[in-house]
Amino acid sequence: MGAYEAFYLAILKPACYVFISDDNFHKIFHKTILFNNPTPYDFARIYVMNSNKKLKERGDKVFVGTYARYPAAMVKGSGCRLFDADGREYLDFMAGIAVCALGHAHPKITEAICRQAGELVHVSNLYYTLPQIELAEMIIAHSFGEKLFLCNSGAEANEAAIKLARIYSSAGRYKIISLSGSFHGRTLATVAATGQAKFHKGFEPLPEGFLHAPFGDLSALEQMIDSSTCAILCEPLQGEGGVRPLAKDYLHGIEALCKKHDLLLIFDEIQTGMGRTGSLFAYEQLGVQPDIMTMAKALGNGLPIGALLTSEKIAAAFVPGTHASTFGGNPVACAAAVATLKIMLADGFLADVKRKGDYFRAELQALAQQFPAILSSARGMGLLVGAVLTEQGVAHGTEIVNKMFDRGFLMNFAGNVALRFVPPLIVTTEEIDQLVAALAEVLAEV
Ligand SMILES: Cc1ncc(COP(=O)(O)O)c(C=O)c1O
Repeated sequence: MGAYEAFYLAILKPACYVFISDDNFHKIFHKTILFNNPTPYDFARIYVMNSNKKLKERGDKVFVGTYARYPAAMVKGSGCRLFDADGREYLDFMAGIAVCALGHAHPKITEAICRQAGELVHVSNLYYTLPQIELAEMIIAHSFGEKLFLCNSGAEANEAAIKLARIYSSAGRYKIISLSGSFHGRTLATVAATGQAKFHKGFEPLPEGFLHAPFGDLSALEQMIDSSTCAILCEPLQGEGGVRPLAKDYLHGIEALCKKHDLLLIFDEIQTGMGRTGSLFAYEQLGVQPDIMTMAKALGNGLPIGALLTSEKIAAAFVPGTHASTFGGNPVACAAAVATLKIMLADGFLADVKRKGDYFRAELQALAQQFPAILSSARGMGLLVGAVLTEQGVAHGTEIVNKMFDRGFLMNFAGNVALRFVPPLIVTTEEIDQLVAALAEVLAEV
């Protein structure tokens, strides 16, 4: 008896459901249940076999406890919607975080992935592949960069940037100054670069050569520069740090310090890049051009991929043998990234991100006026949006996010200061309205 026969038997004769293995069930759930207008009766059966509760129990038994997960096992996504194993629907304003910029299961991305997977999944970087070349050409054509290095994640891209800054700079120059409140990743070097003590705790001694300047203070930053400094590393807008923008003057000041002291300016655009702020990269709107830039997150719309971009002159410091990545530039991930970029670069897409971001912030600003004890303001760029909490509001940050989860809205609390919203860039104003209405109800409750 095949899986489908078993399933239909189970629907007709409830006692039979026990014959369906979890593996078969998974396929059946995807192909049959979600697309066939499930009835509460169907979901009752699903619950018994593969519920959130059951999957949570299984997961908690086997995973290292690095995540405080919600009690939901996601099984399907479509556009801005996610569905869990109990059949609950969520409006996703997290996009995984800031990864699925074109939404879940975008048909063009799925098609690109499947096509490439049918041709070539992996080959060593000792050979060329077309998807890698196409991707590099596209990014270079739409940015300041002349050379690209491909890897698999944000932290790996920042590691490459740190190594490149050190090897490019003259002997004895190795220190990198980043900003307090920043987030640059979870590897040891990127944790050391991250300007938040909570990420360092327990991992000392951290790699040497990372300093953190107080946010917004140019003279303090300049005082930290000495003859062993090689670079300043910052996000143009701090995402994990609470959707905290760097003022244009401040960024221009940082750029001027780099010029004055002959330092490299490294922008971490891992969260702000790939259309998130309403331009392909945030630096384009800020009038500051970095020497090295990193990207990841939305680059492959969900497939793991990261990249470092720089000039030909700086890139020349990396030669065969100095840096590498087995999976970096994987053809399937690159094919997904090429398809993602084509959509983002189509006429009107980025302008629409800006327009929706402005609308969203205006709506949140109105909420701040309605609930001044909890919300102080809205900030961000494009669809990287933060609702800043007041001191009283901060005490309710996690509660607000949890109550929104209970209502079927996914978002998070960033930097212990702001509610963060990073929806798929295809989100509609109607979906923004739904979230704002739910948030208003929650704010009235706390
Ligand atoms: C600005 C920034 N840099 C680096 C990272 C690390 O990226 P990854 O988790 O892909 O290593 C993140 C992830 O949140 C990020 O937001």
